Amino acid sequence: MYYHIKTYGCAMNVHESEKIAGQLEKLGYSETAEVEKADIVVFNTCTIRENAVHKAYGNIGKLKTYRQENKKVIIAVGGCMTQDKEQAEDLKKKLPFIDIIFGTHNLTEFGEMVKEYNNSHKKVFEVWDSEKDMPKENEVTRNSFPNALVNIMYGCNNYCTYCIVPYVRGRERSRPQAEIVEEVKNLLAEGYREITLLGQNVNSYGNDFENSESNFVNLMETLAVLPYKYRLRFMTSHPKDFKEELAIVVGKYDNIPKYIHLPIQSGSNNILEKMNRKYTREDYLKTVEIIKKHIPNYALSSDLMVGFPQETEEDFNETMSLAEEIRYSSAFTFIYSVRHGTVAADMEGHIDEETKSKRIQKLVALQNKISKEISDEYIGGIYEILVEEKKEGAMCGKTDNGRLVKFPTENYDLLGKFVKVKIISSTISGLKGEFVEISK
Ligand code: SAH
Ligand code: SF4
Ligand code: F3S
Repeated sequence: MYYHIKTYGCAMNVHESEKIAGQLEKLGYSETAEVEKADIVVFNTCTIRENAVHKAYGNIGKLKTYRQENKKVIIAVGGCMTQDKEQAEDLKKKLPFIDIIFGTHNLTEFGEMVKEYNNSHKKVFEVWDSEKDMPKENEVTRNSFPNALVNIMYGCNNYCTYCIVPYVRGRERSRPQAEIVEEVKNLLAEGYREITLLGQNVNSYGNDFENSESNFVNLMETLAVLPYKYRLRFMTSHPKDFKEELAIVVGKYDNIPKYIHLPIQSGSNNILEKMNRKYTREDYLKTVEIIKKHIPNYALSSDLMVGFPQETEEDFNETMSLAEEIRYSSAFTFIYSVRHGTVAADMEGHIDEETKSKRIQKLVALQNKISKEISDEYIGGIYEILVEEKKEGAMCGKTDNGRLVKFPTENYDLLGKFVKVKIISSTISGLKGEFVEISK
């Protein structure tokens, strides 16, 4: 029996697909890369923007004939889209051949739902409003070696006015520190060499603990001193909660890459306020100064959004000037997408598609130019990279500060090792190099 999982969305979902895989393997299924070979196809969906929803509809829809011709195949859909009851109803109506629907809060019950379906052959649709208790961590099947994603918290309390995440992921719940440390220790002992701690706003880790000294900074310190050479990354830091103590810890430990993803969204105070981000452009720039002070060789990345309701040309130009002033090492750029049920959806002054499209093109062109200039600065230098992926005749990995590097080699044993690579050419987002030696 084979399973095939299609994942949309962020690292949180990527990791949850590993938890889905874990449950399916426990039931005796093995992974297949070919949909046509699968006995169960799972779609782990995202609803952050409308285009993520369209993609899922398109890809699930393609399986209609396959499902009709293969009565035994199970089609299951879960994730952030189905956690929204309205979207789940819509999906049932439009794609009635779906057999199982589950949400983010009952993800760890998925294995049981599959068993139920196999016993009854009746559709199993179940989406919980919230978890009955803290999410259970279940068997995880990872095939991301040497990288491993580790949840430190779930949910979000911030209610940025454009964002659907708080509605589909619930309130912030932090995992006990001892449990996280145990998981990381085990992963390191197994040979994993890049650990990414996951949370929508990692800086508020531990805020929900009663009588506990646990916070994100001491979690990072506890993990950074584990006796292995490895990379301890984290995602995502909300600028309103980024503390100087964290910059100090990042600067202090070799195991923590000098890379910070600090999404600003907009350069205009007017828009930041309407987004409910709770910081100003000036606050953000001060945080960048703090980062510079403690992490001299830092790389900074961001998320930038255009076309939020009422965004004027002036507001947009402030995002452009901010991107120019900061010179992000890289940035994810998004067009605002209306999410039903959020505060911004009901705001006046939605921006027309043509204006949004013009703005995103300008912003992307600017960021591409900056990213390429920064990439060019690497040429001629020798950098340490963690080898993370095999490609035909080449290996790929990242520099400490997150730049992708590809170098030709037939030595696939390098996977999971730290190596030195001399950079010979660059593109906007990546670098090409030559193998120099394995790091000591
Ligand atoms: N918790 C993280 C981000 C999660 S979503 C944080 O706060 O940084 C990732 C990014 O998607 C956001 O930073 C934002 O730029 C973008 N995004 C979220 N909702 C969006 C929407 N409705 N339209 C367009 N982009 C959106
Ligand atoms: Fe969404 Fe804001 Fe929470 Fe990030 S912090 S997940 S953007 S509500
Ligand atoms: Fe992530 Fe998309 Fe959900 S970005 S949290 S999978 S809505």
